[in-house]
Formats: sequence, C-alpha cells, structure tokens
Amino acid sequence: MNDFTSGFWGYYIAAIALGGVIWCVWLLLSQRKWLEITKEQEVSDTGHVWDGDLRELNNPMPRWWIVMYLLLCAFGLGYLYLYPGLGSYGGALNYTTELELEERSLAYAESVRPTYAKFDNLSIEELAKNPEAEKIGQRLFLNYCAQCHGSDARGGYSFPNLEQGDPIYPRTPEGILATITHGRNGVMPGFAGQITEAEAVDIAQYVRSLSNLAHNQLAAVRGKKNYDVHCVACHGIDGKGNKLVGAPNLTDAVWLYSSSEKQIVSNIMNGLNNSMPAQENILSSDQIRMLAAWVWNLNKEGSQPSELNASVSQ
Ligand code: HEC
Ligand code: HEC
Repeated sequence: MNDFTSGFWGYYIAAIALGGVIWCVWLLLSQRKWLEITKEQEVSDTGHVWDGDLRELNNPMPRWWIVMYLLLCAFGLGYLYLYPGLGSYGGALNYTTELELEERSLAYAESVRPTYAKFDNLSIEELAKNPEAEKIGQRLFLNYCAQCHGSDARGGYSFPNLEQGDPIYPRTPEGILATITHGRNGVMPGFAGQITEAEAVDIAQYVRSLSNLAHNQLAAVRGKKNYDVHCVACHGIDGKGNKLVGAPNLTDAVWLYSSSEKQIVSNIMNGLNNSMPAQENILSSDQIRMLAAWVWNLNKEGSQPSELNASVSQ
C-alpha cells in the first residue's frame, strides 16, 4: 500500500472503503425507519397479485438480520482501524505481511537450529561424508535447486550439470559456498557489431575443433585468428576457460548450451547472460552449508591440494 507514487490513490481507496461501509449503515438504518412505520400499520402490500390470490407482501427485515449486518459493519471498521486497508494508512497494529514473514522465518530458523547444531564443527568435507547431513542436503536440493538443476542435478540447457566434471566456477567447497550464497552471473558480450556472420561461422568451426568435433579445417584456421582477438580474454588461449569470470572450458565434451554451429554462432553474435540466484536471503547459512556439502559430494573438485591449485591457476 505504500508503493503509490502519488498520495491521491491512498485517499481514493480509503474513501471507497469507508464510503462503502457508511453507505451500508445508512441503507440499513433508512430501511429500519421505514419498516417501523409499516409495522404499526398492517404489513403493506406491493399490490402485485398472481394466480388470482397470490399477493406479494412487503414484510419487514428480521431484526436479528439487521443487527448482524450492523455488527459486521462495526467489525469492518474495527478491522480497517487495526490493519492496513485504508489506502496508505498502516493500521494501529503496524501489521505487515513482510514483518509476519520475517517473524515466522526467525521462528522457523530457531526451531530447526538444534537439528543443525550438531554439524556446527564439521567442515564441508566432513559434512559430505556424514550420511545424515547428506540426507538433509538432498532434501534441500530437491526443494530449492531441482527446478533449475534437475532432481538428478544433471541440469539442462543453460543450467549446469553439477554431477559431471569441468565446472564453470570453482567447485571446491569454498567455491560452491560462494556460488550458492552470493549467486553467479555469467555474461558474455555479443559480437554482432564487430564480427560478421561468416566470421562467426569460422570461429564456431574453430571452437568445435577444440573439442575434436567434426569441423571444416580451413574455416577453423580462419576462425582461430578472430578467436585469438576476441575470445582469449575470457576463454583463454587454449580454450580452457576461466573460472573467475565463469567462461566455460570449450575444449571438452561438456556443453552448457549446445555444440552445434548454429548455437555457437548465436552465442557469439548475441552474447549470453546467465544467472544463478543468490540464496543468502532465502536459505540459512546452515542450509547453505548442507547444500554445498551435498553438491561437492557429487563431484569432488579440490579434494586434493594439487587439484585445488589446478583450478585456481586456470
Ligand atoms: C533459477 C534457476 C536456478 C536455481 C533455483 C538454482 N540454480 Fe544454480 N545455477 C543456475 C544457473 C543458470 C547457473 C549458471 C550460472 C552462470 O553460468 O553464471 C547455476 C550455477 C550453479 C553452480 C555452479 C556450476 C558450475 O558449473 O560451476 C552451482 C554449484 C549451483 N548452481 C548450485 C545450486 C544450488 C545448490 C542451488 C539450490 C540452492 C541452485 N544452484 C539453485 C540456476 C539456478
Ligand atoms: C567477457 C568474457 C567473454 C568473452 C570475451 C567471450 N566469452 Fe564466451 N562465454 C563467456 C561466459 C561468461 C560464458 C558462459 C555464459 C553462461 O553461463 O551462459 C560464455 C559461454 C560461451 C559458450 C557456450 C559454452 C557452452 O558450454 O555451451 C561459447 C561456445 C562461447 N562462450 C564462445 C565464445 C567465443 C567464440 C568468443 C569470442 C568470439 C567468446 N566466447 C568470447 C565469456 C566470454
């Protein structure tokens, strides 16, 4: 209700809400007066007659019905006084759904804290070996991650497969924690202004040659020149990518999109913009640790120091 840019709409809505209640009360009271007169006299007759003797009477409204209706109006006014409903007026109780959600989330976090407390002193590596933590991690994954990464964590078009090797970002315990907590945003600029479609086709042929896919050798040689100018900054001279900017390795069989010439040309011309939403405001740090352990367990990058160094130096 506080999102209005002009104060007018707040008053407009308040006037309609209050006017509605006042109108109801007025209608009931005016009816009652009129009913009392008819009570003193005989029940009045509308004068409509059907089938010879079927008369339409004008019976008074039952008193209980009118009283109930007035009580409802009083309830409505009380509600509008206590809770937000009158334009930008926030209500005497200062109630907002946001606050309620916050309170409930806090209460929930507190109620599940004991479940997580016993894992407090375990590292991500240790959590990954703990069967109970693994169960929690899997359930959390199904609830919060499966809609994008699939219930088997194998991803799909534009959603990374978390099970196979060659991740886009560091899939070390720290890397995964950072990915889940802060999210990731992989951006590749489009080259439509700088590269012609024909040149993009040549580059695509070169990209395909990097992972030993069928390609036109001549085109690939032509494409390499442009690759070296436009692509190495992110994907590297050797095409192995850069985990710091989320530029995928182009030399393997793992494709976030597809390896077809058409798709690669489209990536080059139109660019890409892909994001993994940050979970820090959605999940507790306990839950994020469980998830990080579960994801790391699928594919243990950095489990040995040598592997960790390799991923950092890329
Ligand atoms: C709305 C869709 C969406 C949801 C929900 C989502 N992700 Fe992602 N995730 C993505 C996308 C898209 C990427 C790739 C981002 C990029 O390329 O920059 C990604 C990337 C990742 C990566 C890095 C993959 C790599 O190869 O390095 C990890 C790890 C990950 N997500 C884990 C999770 C976990 C755990 C959850 C559940 C809390 C989750 N994601 C929920 C869409 C999602
Ligand atoms: C500024 C850094 C940057 C530059 C320059 C760049 N890319 Fe990318 N590229 C990325 C990022 C980041 C992604 C991942 C986007 C995503 O997650 O959707 C990507 C994705 C791709 C993909 C998809 C890979 C897959 O697994 O499906 C291809 C192919 C690709 N780039 C080729 C190129 C080519 C060819 C060039 C040069 C013309 C180029 N890129 C230049 C950053 C870059």
